[in-house]
Amino acid sequence: MRKSVTITLAALLTVPLIAFSGTGHAQGTPTKSLRGADVAESDAAPEVRDYVGKKPGRQKPIPRTFLDQPPLIPHAVDNFDEITLEENQCLSCHGPDKYKEKEAPRIGDSHFLDRDGNKLRSVSMSRHNCTQCHVPQTDAPPLVENTFKGELGKNAKKK
Ligand code: HEC
Ligand code: HEC
Repeated sequence: MRKSVTITLAALLTVPLIAFSGTGHAQGTPTKSLRGADVAESDAAPEVRDYVGKKPGRQKPIPRTFLDQPPLIPHAVDNFDEITLEENQCLSCHGPDKYKEKEAPRIGDSHFLDRDGNKLRSVSMSRHNCTQCHVPQTDAPPLVENTFKGELGKNAKKK
């Protein structure tokens, strides 16, 4: 007897809840996405911008702003950004056998260490994809205000 009362009560309470949530979904205001487009719309291609730098050999290094920052690429990378399994065009200037001849900065010593800190004879494969850490620069204005202040002169390696 008591059991059936409980069940009936539970059923009575559930019905209006279902009805309410049902209408809520149907009439709710459409979701406003942060990027200002419908979530189902495909992304618009970003505007193509020129690199700030020109051919390598003409730029000054960009000052580093914090300790162990991967230096930013000061030059354009239009014709030599190919990094594949077989070749790495960055290494054709920055690699240990080429940097002198090309008058390019040599890749960091840390690039010859494996994950456990053991010294390797050649560039560590974990550093092969250079542009994962080093990025060329364009004149794009910041998307949001940024008040970041570097620690240059304190910890950052000065060049
Ligand atoms: C044709 C030779 C050449 C190629 C190819 C090249 N670089 Fe450079 N790179 C230079 C030279 C020379 C500099 C010194 C600055 C300058 O003159 O632009 C430099 C500077 C840099 C710096 C700044 C180093 C510092 O201490 O501030 C980084 C990082 C860098 N290059 C990364 C790359 C990456 C990543 C690639 C491949 C996408 C690449 N470079 C391809 C010649 C080259
Ligand atoms: C996992 C991130 C990472 C990858 C991948 C990477 N680098 Fe670096 N690179 C760094 C950091 C961090 C530094 C600064 C500290 C140091 O010298 O190790 C640096 C420093 C450098 C420097 C300046 C060295 C100096 O003594 O001032 C050059 C040039 C450079 N990298 C080129 C390259 C090239 C070319 C590749 C691809 C073969 C590459 N890096 C891949 C993180 C990376």
